[in-house]
Amino acid sequence: MKVNKNIIVGICIITFFVFYLLLINNTNSYAKKKSIEATYVGSETCKECHEDTFNKFKSTIHGRIADFEAKGQVLGCEACHGPGSVHVEEQDPEKIVSLKKLTPQESSKICLNCHREEPQIAWPSSTHALSGISCTDCHDPHQTRGKFLLKSKDPKLCFQCHREKIASMNYPSHHPIKEKKMKCSSCHDTHGTFRANLRAETINELCFSCHAEKQGPFTYEHAPVVENCLLCHDSHGTIANNLLKQNQPFLCMQCHPGHEDHYHPAVTNPEWRISFYTKCTQCHSQIHGSDFPSLSGHGRFTR
Ligand code: HEC
Ligand code: HEC
Ligand code: HEC
Ligand code: HEC
Ligand code: HEC
Ligand code: HEC
Ligand code: HEC
Ligand code: HEC
Ligand code: HEC
Ligand code: HEC
Repeated sequence: MKVNKNIIVGICIITFFVFYLLLINNTNSYAKKKSIEATYVGSETCKECHEDTFNKFKSTIHGRIADFEAKGQVLGCEACHGPGSVHVEEQDPEKIVSLKKLTPQESSKICLNCHREEPQIAWPSSTHALSGISCTDCHDPHQTRGKFLLKSKDPKLCFQCHREKIASMNYPSHHPIKEKKMKCSSCHDTHGTFRANLRAETINELCFSCHAEKQGPFTYEHAPVVENCLLCHDSHGTIANNLLKQNQPFLCMQCHPGHEDHYHPAVTNPEWRISFYTKCTQCHSQIHGSDFPSLSGHGRFTR
């Protein structure tokens, strides 16, 4: 009896999904079907009724593409909106592809027809694509202001969806984005690529691209620096100075006992007590690595 009930519920669920799939499939294939029936008429025809759009479009990069730049592709309005003969005849807005009405995947696919190279080649597996973002969330091919057809400038564009980064960029220590010395895109390529859309394969490689002096190799290396800059730093903004995740000595004392050990009893020995009240880097000034040994001949980043 129990088994039968489960089977019935199962069948109901499956039937529901089959109908559901048919339903979404139907609405989506509508645009495709009508494009198959229509033929290409050329942008000059669109101009007759969309003159403003046409004139503006002429000055954009897509309006200026030469044949050799997009071999074998349809150019002009119909490159994105599909063949327009039926729409022109009937003047029916339902009979032309409107990218706004497509799913993110469908509208991005139209762009990817031509944009098949790096970095967009990685797009389908990027976090943005997998989160339901489409090319047209950031780009508007009809806009004529600024660079790259962006809907608004980086970082304003990014802040619209990444609101928590507005706060980090206003912390006392931050990468100089609001000072306009760099953009979010200086470190990120929003179209995909590696971890967190970074413009390098590892965190450290990314940091070295601008902070080359930290790269070494040093005779005496500090293990966490070699491993990952973000063990101590945040890449966006922090309350502590120097983009440090924590202030000293707490930062260092996550991994070191400070000087409260057998040789340097900082609590009981006044000579060493100072090490708790001074920034560790006051003495260990070469914290990112050094070519010179300490007085006792070790690599302790004191010079
Ligand atoms: C004979 C007039 C005429 C011609 C030619 C014409 N359109 Fe339209 N188009 C219209 C009308 C009318 C509408 C609906 C009102 C509006 O949005 O302006 C429309 C709407 C649209 C829309 C919006 C669709 C929507 O769902 O909102 C797009 C996109 C479009 N046209 C593209 C084109 C393209 C591309 C061409 C050339 C292949 C073209 N049109 C040629 C009359 C025309
Ligand atoms: C590179 C791709 C591309 C090309 C080429 C292009 N469009 Fe569009 N068009 C779009 C996108 C994307 C939108 C929606 C913009 C948005 O998200 O607000 C749009 C919007 C429109 C609209 C407003 C209605 C709607 O669908 O939202 C009209 C009308 C239109 N385009 C006509 C044209 C005409 C006419 C041409 C040629 C002169 C043309 N387009 C060329 C991509 C394109
Ligand atoms: C017919 C082919 C074709 C289609 C379809 C197409 N593009 Fe392009 N696009 C090009 C070419 C060619 C260039 C110029 C060379 C380049 O930058 O790759 C270009 C340039 C661009 C640029 C750079 C603009 C600049 O100022 O440097 C952006 C951004 C862009 N396209 C976005 C899009 C988006 C978004 C779509 C879909 C709505 C789209 N493209 C659809 C061919 C196309
Ligand atoms: C989350 C926002 C966002 C999305 C989504 C997005 N882009 Fe971009 N795109 C940008 C930004 C920002 C730039 C400028 C990068 C820079 O300043 O170096 C850019 C630049 C470009 C360029 C010109 C420079 C280059 O890298 O070749 C092209 C072409 C382009 N995008 C195409 C696309 C296409 C095609 C899609 C969809 C598959 C897409 N973009 C999706 C934000 C976006
Ligand atoms: C239309 C909304 C939207 C815009 C605009 C946008 N993003 Fe995103 N972004 C998302 C969503 C959604 C995610 C995935 C969920 C999350 O991590 O918040 C994401 C994720 C990311 C990630 C994490 C990727 C990963 O693999 O963990 C980075 C980095 C990123 N975005 C950078 C940017 C940058 C830089 C810009 C501006 C050029 C930008 N985004 C613009 C919506 C957007
Ligand atoms: C100096 C380089 C740099 C700049 C500039 C930068 N980021 Fe990042 N961002 C990173 C790194 C590195 C990570 C990876 C952090 C990790 O994996 O622990 C990251 C991670 C992210 C993430 C995903 C994880 C998280 O922290 O939420 C988002 C979203 C993001 N950045 C958005 C932005 C936005 C928006 C801007 C511009 C306001 C920006 N970033 C500017 C380096 C940078
Ligand atoms: C695109 C170039 C660029 C990249 C990549 C970059 N930085 Fe920076 N960084 C800067 C600039 C510019 C400054 C500001 C320097 C100045 O004002 O003198 C800065 C400042 C800093 C500061 C000092 C902040 C302060 O408050 O004084 C630290 C720490 C830092 N970066 C760490 C990193 C780390 C860690 C990474 C890798 C995740 C990284 N940076 C990647 C350009 C970059
Ligand atoms: C063990 C913790 C730690 C790690 C890991 C670390 N840093 Fe630092 N970094 C610091 C401290 C502490 C300061 C502040 C120095 C001071 O107080 O004199 C600093 C300051 C900086 C500054 C600004 C001042 C200056 O010296 O130019 C930059 C830039 C910087 N670090 C980049 C990096 C980069 C790039 C990496 C990865 C290769 C990295 N840091 C890894 C602890 C660290
Ligand atoms: C994420 C953990 C971590 C943080 C944070 C960290 N260190 Fe280290 N440090 C290490 C490791 C691991 C070694 C290598 C230990 C070894 O070789 O015995 C090391 C080595 C050292 C050495 C040499 C030790 C010796 O015995 O020769 C000194 C000095 C040092 N760190 C100082 C600091 C200071 C000062 C800070 C704060 C600015 C700091 N460290 C932050 C992990 C860390
Ligand atoms: C007043 C200067 C001074 C301050 C401040 C200081 N140190 Fe030291 N530290 C030294 C000297 C000197 C040595 C021995 C160097 C040598 O080998 O000649 C040393 C050695 C070390 C060593 C390796 C030897 C050991 O004790 O295991 C570590 C780890 C260390 N310091 C961590 C720290 C940390 C963490 C802080 C911050 C809480 C700190 N130091 C603050 C001067 C200082």
